[in-house]
Amino acid sequence: MTRVAVLKGGRSLERNVSLRSGARVEDALERLGHDVVGIDVGSDLVSRLRDAAPDLAFVALHGRDGEDGTVQELLELVGVPYTGSGVSACVRCWDKVLAKHLMRGAGIPTPDFYAFSETAFKELGAAEALPVIEERLAFPVVVKPAAQGSALGIKFADTQAAVPGALVAAFSYDRKVLLERHVAGRDLAVSLVDGDPLPVVEAVPEAGEDFYDFEARYTIGRTRFVCPAELSDDDTARAQSLARSAWDLFGCRGFARVDLMREDSTGELFVLEVEAVPGLTDTSLLPQAAEAGGLDFDQLTGRIVELALAPAPA
Ligand SMILES: Nc1ncnc2c1ncn2[C@@H]1O[C@H](COP(=O)(O)OP(=O)(O)O)[C@@H](O)[C@H]1O
Ligand SMILES: [Mg+2]
Repeated sequence: MTRVAVLKGGRSLERNVSLRSGARVEDALERLGHDVVGIDVGSDLVSRLRDAAPDLAFVALHGRDGEDGTVQELLELVGVPYTGSGVSACVRCWDKVLAKHLMRGAGIPTPDFYAFSETAFKELGAAEALPVIEERLAFPVVVKPAAQGSALGIKFADTQAAVPGALVAAFSYDRKVLLERHVAGRDLAVSLVDGDPLPVVEAVPEAGEDFYDFEARYTIGRTRFVCPAELSDDDTARAQSLARSAWDLFGCRGFARVDLMREDSTGELFVLEVEAVPGLTDTSLLPQAAEAGGLDFDQLTGRIVELALAPAPA
């Protein structure tokens, strides 16, 4: 029997999603016969970890702190093994600007982009350069904070007039934002367990929904998920192979999810981002993909624990 501390909640904007992931993981761990301690992460995290002295921490946190390498760093310091990716992979995945530079450098296709910090606008007059960017990327331009999840702060700006407002919105989430080329096409995700790609999931907006309203799409559940996605064998293989390349590039461990777009006009695939700590709720994509790949939630949870306790590869 393993004593597992499930880290959940926290102060991030994705606290509620994390509480749901955490509760589901706790149930699964109990069914698997583990000794489970739930920890709602706060300023007493280090002392609670020391008191609980778990054999393993199951990181079921999303968003800032949980996904950006902070909690992983603390777990390293306290000496508790933990599930999922290590500090370095988390840091690189969490910052979309850094992640996109790494992907571009490695030849993994990702939509063209320009990134700015708040000071570029406040102190260097970056606003003057917006028309050039808009011309290069063409409308609609996607504006998003460098860090965040669950589509928070992401806007599609249809016209020049909409860009400043979209930037202000994105800057309310992060000091760094990116303007990205909009890829008109299908929204795909490839989850991986131990580097093995699972069946592709497609997120299909319900007919009649405002295409631009992500918050509604993702939080109110106005999206239908199809798994395995209805793709040609070629597209499926390419999506899975790109996902694996991204996994290797970022140095992920345990499990992760890679978000992609398939452009309608060209059939090309682009990687948007890698989620180092993907959601594990009953509506999350990774558990759905695992199910389609023949792993039910308990088996998935067991596998994640096993991978975290396995000795690091030489
Ligand atoms: N460049 C883009 N072109 C088209 N749609 C995009 C683009 N970037 C983001 N989106 C849409 O927004 C969603 C969330 O974007 P993503 O970059 O994955 O950020 P998050 O961390 O919020 O998941 C995507 O799944 C996709 O539907
Ligand atoms: Mg995403």
